[in-house]
Amino acid sequence: MIDFIAIDRFRKEDLEALFELTDEVISDPFKFGSKCRGKILATLFYEPSTRTRLSFESAMLRLGGSTLGFAEPSTSSVAKGETLADTARMVSNYADIIVIRHPLAGAPQVVADHSDAPVINGGDDSNQHPTQTLMDLYTIRRCKGRIEGLNIGILGDLRYGRAPHSLAYGAAMFGARIINIAPPGLEMPDHVLLRLKKLYNAEVLNVTDLSEVISELDVLYVNRLQKERLPEGVDYESIKDSYVINRKAVERSKPDLIIMHPLPRVNELAYELDDDPRAKYFEQARNGLFVRMALIISLLGELELKPIERERVELERRCPNPRCVSNHEPYLKPSYERLLPGDEALFCLYCGFPLEGTR
Ligand code: NCD
Repeated sequence: MIDFIAIDRFRKEDLEALFELTDEVISDPFKFGSKCRGKILATLFYEPSTRTRLSFESAMLRLGGSTLGFAEPSTSSVAKGETLADTARMVSNYADIIVIRHPLAGAPQVVADHSDAPVINGGDDSNQHPTQTLMDLYTIRRCKGRIEGLNIGILGDLRYGRAPHSLAYGAAMFGARIINIAPPGLEMPDHVLLRLKKLYNAEVLNVTDLSEVISELDVLYVNRLQKERLPEGVDYESIKDSYVINRKAVERSKPDLIIMHPLPRVNELAYELDDDPRAKYFEQARNGLFVRMALIISLLGELELKPIERERVELERRCPNPRCVSNHEPYLKPSYERLLPGDEALFCLYCGFPLEGTR
């Protein structure tokens, strides 16, 4: 059984196979209309969502399957204190495939470890959002014909956003050059930079100002300030206007730049760009439906995906990330994985943070 928890657990070949299947789904969605007849998708959303939950539900319905789940944990046994492990065991009796979104990093891994059904990560805290990355990479490939060698600018709140983290891994996997553009305090976290280096020997440039790099970019991927995850003491009001992408900001771009955004947007992306031919964010959102249809049928057996197997190491050392699920669910033992065979560095199996002192 294959889960879809972290983008970097897959190889380029597997993602390419998924994109080819997505091409087929887009060209004739009705051909896939009974692929999941009799199957049930459970959506466990412990955090707000519009696109991700509805597009997964729509994907399953368009495949001829059914859906159940909750969008508001206060209406489920979570409110009675049920653990994630027990919820996973129960739900995997009722559903053939599970999507979970959760405010703790690593929660989808816990569900996968206790479920008999494949589990998809629909976003965990500021860790990863791997299905968003599938639609992002798919959109880039469709608009540009390739990903390799492109200059991909990832702009905005790169610290607390999860979409930028998994996008950086995915883009690096395909050999793109990554240009992180973030105001001070919202930079790409060190642990993501370390993993990018170890996993892909990625070429990464970090700048604070879009104007320094706009003329070189092939893709500009804008992210919202993650107000709900800003730590206490960080003043939302004082940073919320620190980056706003409008016509003027992209005036000097290559003519074939594409502008993307995982949505929802707040004020970082001006409406005046919506009818600009460079704007691809609505197309990107629409691609999400088809990518998710392809992913569901793949995890239910259509493709033979082969995730990378990594050595798991149990250690009596707590994960340094206070937002990691292993620091919240008392029955979990700290667990780490070795990203590369023979490398000493260990990273939390759940949230991807390195053990303290790792280089
Ligand atoms: C993103 C998320 O949830 O991380 N939304 C989405 O799924 N498209 C981005 C965001 O909320 O800013």
